Amino acid sequence: MTAESSVVCVFSNKGGSGKTTIAVHLALAWSQLTPTALLDTDPQGTATEWLKRRPADLKSPVTVACPGREAAERALRLAREERYRFVVIDLPPHATAQIAWLLQESDLILVPTRPTAADLVTLQQTVDLVHASKKRAGFILNAFRPQLVEAREITPILAKYGMPIIGVLGDRIAYSRGLPAGLGGHEVGDPSADEEVMKLAKRVIKARNDL
Ligand SMILES: Nc1ncnc2c1ncn2[C@@H]1O[C@H](COP(=O)(O)OP(=O)(O)O)[C@@H](O)[C@H]1O
Ligand SMILES: [Mg+2]
Repeated sequence: MTAESSVVCVFSNKGGSGKTTIAVHLALAWSQLTPTALLDTDPQGTATEWLKRRPADLKSPVTVACPGREAAERALRLAREERYRFVVIDLPPHATAQIAWLLQESDLILVPTRPTAADLVTLQQTVDLVHASKKRAGFILNAFRPQLVEAREITPILAKYGMPIIGVLGDRIAYSRGLPAGLGGHEVGDPSADEEVMKLAKRVIKARNDL
């Protein structure tokens, strides 16, 4: 029997925190191994645009634009019926009750945050909705630069929010170059991006099962 779909959503009210970058790279990593769907629920459609620009000969996650509750519900139902092993949901930058239902549908919620004061200011709103959902959840440290002071300060700060740090993505030009070109970081010549994304993908699976 085929295993059920694992639904992983990437959620934060902060625009630019790295939701789409993380959703796209996780979906891309898993799609190389197993049927994976990427649901783009953000009306801005950045993930959908990524897929449109992606060279057709490269293996890709099935990517569906589904802004609005009705479209997202339909896409999620179909992805489950068709037994996609992983369903990654890229969310818009809101933390409102309107998207709380999507958190309920998830097996794991990832909250990306950059280690900067600006990102932390509005984090509580995001975390409150995550806690209200009572779902498994954790932070992804994004655009991480280990040499900066903030890198040392962020761990105890995040610990206060009562959620683990599941994984890290470094600050890499390859991610920002790859996204508008329809590529992943490793496909624009940064092999360390591949290593890092694979490590993240494994940690996310472990968190989905363990937390
Ligand atoms: N780890 C990273 N390293 C370098 N650039 C990044 C990284 N994560 C995101 N970016 C860039 O920051 C911008 C916002 O990222 P994005 O993933 O679109 O955020 P969100 O979906 O949360 O609004 C994009 O230009 C993206 O390429
Ligand atoms: Mg986005």
